[in-house]
Amino acid sequence: MAESMAGLHRSMRCAEVTENEIGKTLTLMGWVAKSRNKGSIIFTDLRDRSGIMQIIFEYGNVDDAVFEKAEKLRSEFVIAVTGVVEKRSGAANENLATGTIEMRAKDLRILSESETPPFPVEDGIRTKDELRLKYRYLDLRRPELQKNLMMRSRIAQITRSFFAENGFIEIETPNLIKSTPEGARDYLVPSRVHPGSFYALPQSPQLFKQLLMCAGYDRYIQIAKCYRDEDLRADRQPEFTQIDMELSFVDIDDVMEVNERFLKRLFKETRGIDVSLPIRRMTWQEAMDTYGSDKPDLRFGMPIQDVTEAVRNCGFGVFSGAAANGGVVRVINAKGAGEMPRKKIDALTEVAKTYGAKGLAYLAIQKDGTVKSSFAKFFTEEALADLIRTCGGEPGDLLLFGADRIEIVRTALGQVRLALGNELGLIDPDRFEFLWVTEFPLLEWSDEENRFMAMHHPFTKPMEEDWQYIDSDPGRVRAEAYDIVLNGNEIGGGSVRIHRNEIQEKMLEVLGFTKEAAHAQFGFLLDAFKYGVPPHAGLAYGLDRLAMLISGCDSLRDVIAFPKVKDASDLMCEAPSEVSEKQLAELGIAVVKEEDEK
Ligand code: AMO
Ligand code: AMP
Repeated sequence: MAESMAGLHRSMRCAEVTENEIGKTLTLMGWVAKSRNKGSIIFTDLRDRSGIMQIIFEYGNVDDAVFEKAEKLRSEFVIAVTGVVEKRSGAANENLATGTIEMRAKDLRILSESETPPFPVEDGIRTKDELRLKYRYLDLRRPELQKNLMMRSRIAQITRSFFAENGFIEIETPNLIKSTPEGARDYLVPSRVHPGSFYALPQSPQLFKQLLMCAGYDRYIQIAKCYRDEDLRADRQPEFTQIDMELSFVDIDDVMEVNERFLKRLFKETRGIDVSLPIRRMTWQEAMDTYGSDKPDLRFGMPIQDVTEAVRNCGFGVFSGAAANGGVVRVINAKGAGEMPRKKIDALTEVAKTYGAKGLAYLAIQKDGTVKSSFAKFFTEEALADLIRTCGGEPGDLLLFGADRIEIVRTALGQVRLALGNELGLIDPDRFEFLWVTEFPLLEWSDEENRFMAMHHPFTKPMEEDWQYIDSDPGRVRAEAYDIVLNGNEIGGGSVRIHRNEIQEKMLEVLGFTKEAAHAQFGFLLDAFKYGVPPHAGLAYGLDRLAMLISGCDSLRDVIAFPKVKDASDLMCEAPSEVSEKQLAELGIAVVKEEDEK
């Protein structure tokens, strides 16, 4: 039966007790991590968010009633223990912060009992994800997740204090806004007062922060919830958090400068890591050509090289054909991997195929200089030696070739490079390699929509020298957009914004908006620009992604208290769910069930 805590006060948290408290009488409260009954002595590990304290109940040393109560302790009971801190009688436990001390109990109250939990509340368990998420509150009791969420809180704190010290004002923007068709799919919220009308949840505070610049707030920061109805992956949640900022009267260098200082401070204070400044910059073009990715992992090398010209007239149809059809032939030289077994090369070929390649031609140079290759027979000895030289191939190297349209070769070899990095153990998990990727294309062609879409968003400023191509060759126009990349992850992105109405209107026209449609969607922004708008720029980090990388996790789920799964549902509270007829009627909504439709 649960007892009251009346008259008791917790002295401190379990792992806050140190050898300085030896001899003192304290009261600790928490959960029973485990309790071992050795007959006349009971060892109980008491857990709270700080860690564990070993409690000892010794028969004869405590009242019989207390000892009897201690005999009943089971995992996850919530208890209050009063006792004296002592030096550990047994061997010290080096795995615990409190490993050299223990508490000799005098009194015990069972504040709450627990049924046997569906899985043990401890790190390193091999429980199915579904079960852990259904009982998320138990999973969240595990030290690992508690550490992650405390780290996340620390990140938010450092963020607030850094930006406040640098003249940023924290302003909240609304969560019920107008739906805009650009970007990802919106989450919609029906309006009761305006039946048939809907709010959208913000994909980001983008328009509002630009309006705050129009309103003169100069430097804005917000830790903002964002919602995007898109396919989930390990690094994407439908509801996530941005560290969102906007600055007036600045250029790219100003935005980067303050953010580099922020990252330096954040990584120093959370991980003790010295980020060396300035952070390296690379154009999007170079990143795509050299690493096959707009978020290259620079913890290892293995750049992609272009050999199109060298193979244009070779005897291997895959290569010469790609070159003749306006495609490219590119190669990765996996130094020292020349002895890689065929099976592993086949696995890399599958990686390339997943990303649209038709194959992955290889040439393995053995230590004795002979070659094993899927295409060497189409080459003369001399031509092969030339090709190897062009690729910088030496005995012991493995050359992997892609031949196709540039878009396919870049991405496929980029993914092969990452797989090789993992396979060959080239990626040091303790390294943090930051990179600014700059000069993104302004637009990207969408086959699905059959039109150009904004690569970042429609408010991003085109590079002035490229604007002349906006009608003749829109794909050629680069933008004053930048991403901040860490170890192959896009942790943030931003841009300088268009602040001239005629360019904004032209941009919307290129995106396929009629004048009327543009005004219906973005009229408030276009209007605001008529009343004095400062040049402005901004950036947003994915806070969840930052927390994931700082905590060394591979999934956003490990740093979000109540995450969603792949189909965007919450397994604990079972959202989304059906609602009552009454609720629907109030909203003027009729749901067409799929069976009815058929
Ligand atoms: P962007 O769309 O690049 O830019 O988003 C900024 C950062 O947010 C993170 N992010 C996500 N994190 C988790 N789950 C998701 N589904 C998800 N989507 C994005 C990424 C990304 O770099 N308004 C602009 C910013 C600006 O221009 O100032 C924007 O939202 O880390
Ligand atoms: P095939 O001529 O299809 O037997 O292929 C010979 C070799 O070339 C195999 O190793 C294939 O994986 C590789 N290959 C086929 N198509 C391509 C391509 N488009 N790019 C690179 N390698 C390819």
